[in-house]
Amino acid sequence: MKGEKTMRKRIALPAAAFLLVTASFCGCGVDENIDIQVRPDAAAVAESNITEKLPVPEVTEKTEVISEVTEETSAVSSEETEPDIETAISEVEQTVVQNNTEAPETEASYTEKCETTPEVQTQCDTTCPESEIEPTYINGILIANKTYPLPESYNPGRLTTETLEAYNKMYSDACDEGLSIWIQSGFRSYSDQDRIYNGYVARDGKEAADTYSARPGHSEHQTGLAFDLNTIDSSFAYTAEGQWVAENCHKYGFIVRYPQSKESITGYKYEPWHLRYLGVETATKVYESGLCLEEYLGITSQYNY
Ligand code: DAL
Ligand code: ZN
Repeated sequence: MKGEKTMRKRIALPAAAFLLVTASFCGCGVDENIDIQVRPDAAAVAESNITEKLPVPEVTEKTEVISEVTEETSAVSSEETEPDIETAISEVEQTVVQNNTEAPETEASYTEKCETTPEVQTQCDTTCPESEIEPTYINGILIANKTYPLPESYNPGRLTTETLEAYNKMYSDACDEGLSIWIQSGFRSYSDQDRIYNGYVARDGKEAADTYSARPGHSEHQTGLAFDLNTIDSSFAYTAEGQWVAENCHKYGFIVRYPQSKESITGYKYEPWHLRYLGVETATKVYESGLCLEEYLGITSQYNY
């Protein structure tokens, strides 16, 4: 909330040990080192939910993901209540991004207009050997969806610099409005997603998991251009923060990537918390079109395996 003066980044690990990485921020200001702004108690909230763990993720110098499935949520079927699934997502997908490396350049210029026939620069599906899978850029936009996977080796290691800069501007302006936003889950590597997705498959079955969690290689989190905000629950859409983000995130270059009523096109349930960086020009066009990204680019999002 406005007035908070100290922000801490935490890397929380399952089990008894929690590695805390802290950095001080100046309240609502934009951090000059492009650190992300993380709500002080975000990690604590996540930690308090831990009762059972998936395998302990290996800590790298860059970014870590905390994966844990609670016994409580494991017992809840996906059929019972949708919010329970989303609560479980929140518990499993806790990521804190540590800003200590240079982000690689992406090929996306974010300035090209959407064309009727998308220009696909590279394309290979998951039936190809891993060595033949290449990142797919359509009209200069890096795509990671059910049709277009990323190779396992695609690993920027953190959110890209441009994504973090845009996020920090949005954070600062939200703060000025008296709103509190924070990154709940940022970059996730192929292996992070593999662990998360398979945790859901073990709990809910593959068919259900595929409606809300990407298979490894198919998550936008692997691009370093996407992150989850605040509470990973559909109720986020009804909060002041969720409404402000939905109406304003395009001004900072983001879109709500999995909109309501677009499940059959994006391949995923509504995720008001998941933002994707496209740059201001393209994000504004997508927002004003009322289309999801697949519709805007004229592409599919469907597994072929
Ligand atoms: N929840 C989104 C679809 C992901 O797993 O990347
Ligand atoms: Zn997400």
